[in-house]
Amino acid sequence: MGNFLTGKVVAVTGAGRGIGRAVALAAAAEGARVVVNDHGVAVDGASPTSEVADAVVKEIESAGGEAVAVADDISAMAGGRRVVDTALAAYGRLDGAVCVAGILRERMLFNMTEDEWDPVLATHLKGTFTVFRAASAVMRARRSGTLIGFTSGNHQGSVSQANYSAAKGGVISLVRSAALGLHKYGVTANAVAPVARTRMSANVPVELDGIGEPEDVAALVVYLLSDRAREITGQVYTVAGPKIAVWAQPRELRAAYADGGWTPERIARFLPGSVGVDPMPMLEQVAEMERAAAKGERPNA
Ligand SMILES: NC(=O)c1ccc[n+]([C@@H]2O[C@H](COP(=O)([O-])OP(=O)(O)OC[C@H]3O[C@@H](n4cnc5c(N)ncnc54)[C@H](O)[C@@H]3O)[C@@H](O)[C@H]2O)c1
Repeated sequence: MGNFLTGKVVAVTGAGRGIGRAVALAAAAEGARVVVNDHGVAVDGASPTSEVADAVVKEIESAGGEAVAVADDISAMAGGRRVVDTALAAYGRLDGAVCVAGILRERMLFNMTEDEWDPVLATHLKGTFTVFRAASAVMRARRSGTLIGFTSGNHQGSVSQANYSAAKGGVISLVRSAALGLHKYGVTANAVAPVARTRMSANVPVELDGIGEPEDVAALVVYLLSDRAREITGQVYTVAGPKIAVWAQPRELRAAYADGGWTPERIARFLPGSVGVDPMPMLEQVAEMERAAAKGERPNA
């Protein structure tokens, strides 16, 4: 057992399996008391069971740690609230909230139904909001705390997961908004874009470059939750096995100015040579994947 999180109380959503479970176990091993939230659903969000969260609490307890289970659905306001209220009722404080819960409903955009869009947005984006909303009020009052959202490299765009990609892009903007709005209260907010071997990544029809284990991701999350990372806020980190990378902040790349009002014709003459475009790296990657698939190979991503 280490002492990175001694005395802290950390709530983790989606903590029954995969990366969330590794985060919960690692946080407990570093001295945190942990709220283990998991609705216990299938990858597509169906068939909930409370056994999944209970099993991780037992694992933590048998390793000598302290934890409490919450099986609620965090896509509902009441679920997010219950995660935070449970931390306060059981341990009297909340130092970190880590929103890992996620589902997939993969479909090409032109075939996607409302039933494939809504639950994915509700789980990832609203499910981060419900917990951040309740946790940030507690942290603001205490003038300290850490919020962590889970995004994905797929926030750049995805061929067959427009719902997931849009939700993950939303998580980044939510995290940056939390970082801005809570900075003066001593509360930090960051996002993690993991690549790790879990049941969710097993569904991806490509070889994921540099895929690591959930424990690699958990180590980064423990660090971000600790006092050693108090100065870090508004960041997006990828962790993929041995690699940790920081993503750029969005900023205007190039601007040009002209006198007088714009017309479409003026813009058509002006824009290509002055402002131009920023080529989309994912387009080339998708083209490579299509070439590999045409040769019958399992493409890299
Ligand atoms: N595994 C990867 O390589 C990878 C890559 C990019 C992003 N991510 C993200 O990391 C996170 C964890 O993914 P994972 O691979 O560990 O997935 P996983 O399927 O192994 O675990 C997700 C957990 O979330 C729980 N969950 C789902 N909906 C819930 C809800 N409404 N309320 C409470 N719990 C709920 C599930 O029951 C499950 O135990 C997700 O947000 C995912 O999008 C993972």
